[in-house]
Amino acid sequence: MSHQDDLIATDILAYLKVQEEKSLLRFLTCGSVDDGKSTLIGRLLYDSKLIYEDQLSAIEADSKKVGTTGDAPDLALLVDGLAAEREQGITIDVAYRFFSTDKRKFIVADTPGHEQYTRNMATGASTADLAIILIDARRGVLTQTRRHSYIASLLGIRHVVLAVNKMDLVDFSQDVFNEIVADYSAFAEQLGFTDIVSIPMSALTGDNVTENTKNLAWYKGKPLLEHLETVKIGQRRDEGPFRFPVQWVNRPNLDFRGFSGSVASGAVKKGDEIIAIPSGKRSKVKSIVSLGGDMEEAREGLSVTLTLEDEIDISRGDILCAADAPAQQSDQFAAHVLWMYDRPLFPGRQYILKANNQTTPVTITELKHKVNVNNLAQEPGKTLELNEVGYCNLSLGKAIPFDPYKENRQTGCFVLIDRHSNATVGAGMLDFSLRRAANVVWQDLEVGKGQRAGQKHQRPAVLWFTGLSGSGKSTIANLVEKKLFDLGRHTYILDGDNVRHGLNKDLGFTDADRVENIRRVAETAKLMADAGLITMVSFISPFRAERRMARRMMDDGEFIEIYVNTPLEVAEARDVKGLYKKARAGEIKNFTGIDSEYQAPQDAEIEVNTVEMTADEAAEFIVAHLEKAGFLS
Ligand code: ADX
Repeated sequence: MSHQDDLIATDILAYLKVQEEKSLLRFLTCGSVDDGKSTLIGRLLYDSKLIYEDQLSAIEADSKKVGTTGDAPDLALLVDGLAAEREQGITIDVAYRFFSTDKRKFIVADTPGHEQYTRNMATGASTADLAIILIDARRGVLTQTRRHSYIASLLGIRHVVLAVNKMDLVDFSQDVFNEIVADYSAFAEQLGFTDIVSIPMSALTGDNVTENTKNLAWYKGKPLLEHLETVKIGQRRDEGPFRFPVQWVNRPNLDFRGFSGSVASGAVKKGDEIIAIPSGKRSKVKSIVSLGGDMEEAREGLSVTLTLEDEIDISRGDILCAADAPAQQSDQFAAHVLWMYDRPLFPGRQYILKANNQTTPVTITELKHKVNVNNLAQEPGKTLELNEVGYCNLSLGKAIPFDPYKENRQTGCFVLIDRHSNATVGAGMLDFSLRRAANVVWQDLEVGKGQRAGQKHQRPAVLWFTGLSGSGKSTIANLVEKKLFDLGRHTYILDGDNVRHGLNKDLGFTDADRVENIRRVAETAKLMADAGLITMVSFISPFRAERRMARRMMDDGEFIEIYVNTPLEVAEARDVKGLYKKARAGEIKNFTGIDSEYQAPQDAEIEVNTVEMTADEAAEFIVAHLEKAGFLS
């Protein structure tokens, strides 16, 4: 290695001790595509002599072939080398690079990937103390600069370096620099950073990265590296109260029961009293087991197994906390959500929330406002698009232990996962618990679903008809109801057009409104099933996610999806209500099949094709299926 540190050769233990005692700064760099992020990190590693000899000669060779810097080594290649491989992953993926100087150790979050996505940036920021906001001196403060700064502040970063890069391309002009600094400061004023240090530089030529140079003689401050070495960072995470989200209950034999995980914040010693949330049970730490044997104390970041004095019930996802400072628990939250997916977030749709080693279904019950990253104004909105941030109410499938993000960046954050693709679609910060749900309990009723259905001598069912407008859903559902009625069954029909005159009068046909339309009708169908009825639901219900949600809401086997498969050409040719004609003429927007998506079912119990069957035959077919499945006996 090129790094000269004589101690390594002469006294390795002394060297390690020095390393251990140096303070650690975690930082990340953010900026737009060509702001020079990779070059800057490469330059820091290169100038602080932290590049392996073989890496350096490889870069020198590559620079001649593919570099953009003539004969000089293209330092961006040092960082970009691995980027292509990493970018293939769909999960959040950030590489952390470690380097050190005489004064400090550093971990820089290298957040490669599609620049239009904020996901890598957000992941890197969630553990960083400082953000270097890179600006191309020729382009000044961009929307992306503001977005990254806002996200960094949301994620709890308090120290910022405004690195005005590429000064060589603006003749090292002090005026250009001052203008950018003034522009940024006006914006960042509202973000609550404790310090913003602006540094003019050129990562490419090395000006002001590790040393002041005469090109920028007018700049009197410290060069970047020196600032990073000396900047004072406030309270560290391990000073907060002890938090240990349990990752795994380790029970290799009857004599040993330990809880494995890593210390999210604070520290714990043998003999310390802890409280488990949500159970509220208390005990004392009996031992702290690690790979190297038993320890007296475990601090933030360490992965250990804890054993306790008492047998208390603890499972994965519980948080062991300092007894005098327990975490809270709730299933309803106000939270900031950063959306990181191409498809928008829809309030009412179900996602999976993952926090502190556990997952639970979640719906955004309300999008209170979105934040315009250019001026930080709160704006109304019905959906969150890629890279947007919103303030939302969340409703979870079960209560989880947590801390508000402002108090604990580890136990106050969560990610949102798409139920279908398993992709990470959002990240969020819990703000506070909404207490209202805690005061609403289930009322015990004397007469239950079983009795209601029993009195009617039937099994409740939800027959969910889905298909294009004009496919024949309502006609067929109507015939099925008539046949069941004639057989003495107790039925009800929920029809899209009719429900939209009452309960769903306030909803239109945007994707967001359709999600809410289906959520409400699914809840209604669930009540009908609870009343013991056989209910026909006839809604276009164009999205798989909501049909699946409706299915999950009902008891096993109760939900029967019926795909009324009529090709668009056929429905359009019939055009019973004359709506297709209007949609083609542009008089109706967001019309299903024309300029709004229909996702055909993949796992429907019944499919009827109205080209091959008459409506009456389709109804017969459905009733026969119900008979066979035992709903009518
Ligand atoms: S859904 O997509 O949200 O499930 P729903 O079944 O409630 O739709 O309502 C569909 C009915 O509304 C159609 O049968 C049609 O009569 C009428 N309609 C009016 N505008 C539209 C539109 N833009 N897209 C689809 N249907 C529309």
